[in-house]
Amino acid sequence: MNDSIDNDSIDYARYDRIRPIRWTGSALELLDQRQLPFKVEYLTCTSSDEVAAAIHALAVRGAPAIGIAAAWGVVLAAREIVAADPAEALARLEPALQRLNAARPTAVNLAWALQRMRTALRAAGNDWRGMLELEALAIAEEDLAANRLMGTLGAALIAPGSGVLTHCNTGSLATAGFGTALGVIRAGVAQGRIGKVYAGETRPWLQGARLTVWELQQDDIPATLIADSAASHLMKTGAVQWVVVGADRICANGDVANKIGTYQLAITAHHHGVKVMVVAPSSTVDMATASGESIEIEEREPGEMFGIGGVRTVAEGISAWNPVFDVTPAALIDAIVTEKGVIERPDEEKMRAAFSAP
Ligand code: MRU
Repeated sequence: MNDSIDNDSIDYARYDRIRPIRWTGSALELLDQRQLPFKVEYLTCTSSDEVAAAIHALAVRGAPAIGIAAAWGVVLAAREIVAADPAEALARLEPALQRLNAARPTAVNLAWALQRMRTALRAAGNDWRGMLELEALAIAEEDLAANRLMGTLGAALIAPGSGVLTHCNTGSLATAGFGTALGVIRAGVAQGRIGKVYAGETRPWLQGARLTVWELQQDDIPATLIADSAASHLMKTGAVQWVVVGADRICANGDVANKIGTYQLAITAHHHGVKVMVVAPSSTVDMATASGESIEIEEREPGEMFGIGGVRTVAEGISAWNPVFDVTPAALIDAIVTEKGVIERPDEEKMRAAFSAP
């Protein structure tokens, strides 16, 4: 580490150009990530069920972003019901909350955001609809602030001139802005700590190829795309010193669920002496889940694996297995960075010290 690097030198406004989630006052606009990088088009949701469908279909994706979208989904659901007081509203909203929660199972940010909305409603007075709107806004604003802080905390771990490899998309598109792992990369590049950025394609949905390298291009940050299968070879060349990834759920023992392929990156990193950094807001920490063994891993349609960009690449009649997350054991992780600080070599004791029990 080089302490002479100025941590206050990041021009955040430069990274505020992509916002995946916009609240208009009466509707939720989601940057439709299925269309990127070729079309920047917003999908307008006017009901909570439309938000749930957009989350399930990956129009909006990334753990923090689906939590924020779901919170706005609750605001829309509140406009669909008649209730005399917050207690009645809570009861009437529950079915919509359950449908939003069921949209995707692995990222805990979704359940976390919905729980926050329930808590806000319980504490609300007559203007409970207004209170829900303020809470959704707060969830988004806190996420952006956490990302900016994590960017600096994570970048500080990286020696000047390092190469990094990232996986999936953890940037502005996956959050309220700036990003988690991509926030560390943005900060690290701005501070001269990161000299070279590699991004894995992230088969089958191609979050790395379609989203991450596009996002970095918007910021004039040069990035080199690699096939996922090139990662071990890349690490063997000595070109990267850190694998920097996000998370969908961090367990009480430090195990991390993230995009499928993260586990094999951590194994190969361990083999080659490359360090692994997980960057996620505390809303991704789930102290109620003891270890990765208990995490539900989302399995999506095998059809997502049968083609690229709408062109079929696989013969008819083939079966496929499509788990979209995996669990990296804490023992393979060098640092977990949240807005609350850095946990090096995470384990249950350090996690409990940093995050109170449920
Ligand atoms: O299926 P996705 O695209 O929602 O998966 C996203 C990831 O796995 C990200 O790495 C994670 O949500 C962190 S995003 C800041």
